Amino acid sequence: MKKAKPAPKAVRGAADPAVKKVVARHAGNKGALITVLQEVQAELGYLSGQTIEQISRAMDLPASQVYGVATFYTQFRLKPVGKHLMRVCHGTACHVSGAGKISQALEDELKVGDGETTEDGKFTLETVACLGCCSLAPVMMIDSETYGRLTPDSARKAAKDF
Ligand code: FES
Repeated sequence: MKKAKPAPKAVRGAADPAVKKVVARHAGNKGALITVLQEVQAELGYLSGQTIEQISRAMDLPASQVYGVATFYTQFRLKPVGKHLMRVCHGTACHVSGAGKISQALEDELKVGDGETTEDGKFTLETVACLGCCSLAPVMMIDSETYGRLTPDSARKAAKDF
């Protein structure tokens, strides 16, 4: 009587080409995790759970460690982002100049909360610390374009016209 063959091990999903490419660039360097995460995010836009798993396998690091680093640093995004990033400054100068009202106007206009992406995928709205142009407070940026001395109305208009 023939012995039954053991069941094949579950086939792991192949890594995304972007993950393979980045990890290959840093092959054998487990200390390059932050750089790998930055470069993969630059390629894919954000780090999904699946991407984190792939990086963990490709770098032979525990997924919990990769996930821990990805969630510790605010530079990493774990959700997809919109086509345009709208950053509203809530640094001290902007805060005292009414940043809260600017954010509220944009949240009402775009129908999203902080950190969320509009339904059409056009904008991701984010609250950030100082954008480095405090004399223009309150300030926001849409991608690399700066909007200063905002009012709730001018912020809404900037969002509509962009
Ligand atoms: S505090 Fe807003 S730009 Fe500096």
